Amino acid sequence: MVCLGNICRSPLAEGIMTKLVADHGLSWEVQSAGTASYHVGSAPDERSVAVAANHGIDITKQRSQQLQVADFYTYDLILAMDAQNYNNIKELQPEDGTAEIKMILNYAHPGQNRQVPDPYYHGGFDAVYDMLCVACEQVIEKET
Ligand code: 4NP
Repeated sequence: MVCLGNICRSPLAEGIMTKLVADHGLSWEVQSAGTASYHVGSAPDERSVAVAANHGIDITKQRSQQLQVADFYTYDLILAMDAQNYNNIKELQPEDGTAEIKMILNYAHPGQNRQVPDPYYHGGFDAVYDMLCVACEQVIEKET
């Protein structure tokens, strides 16, 4: 799960997907990262922590990390929250990397390239949570 800072959107996506993976008894490894390094080592934004907690998901132990070239060989699927993330991921992608790279909302709305809006400055964390839930359920549906 990849966004810009790895403190707002992708930590929520990691938390939601980790719960769904456990609920479905899958053995997937779920992680999140940012394309930028600004917040490396930081806990998730308190607004993401709060919305996750409202839904019974604890994301407080996550720490921001930056997407690495090695991730393109470790993970099968790298999911971008928005088009800028997608383009930055593609720029970092090594030629022989094995991960597939997709916009996460295309699982819920195929072919539309919809974006998870960045809530950092203007809020909207509940809406972000809701759209990530729908998308993550579709990831499970379509990738299992
Ligand atoms: P995220 O949100 O990419 O969903 O984690 C942001 C976090 C920090 C910044 C921008 C977006 N920032 O500019 O510091």
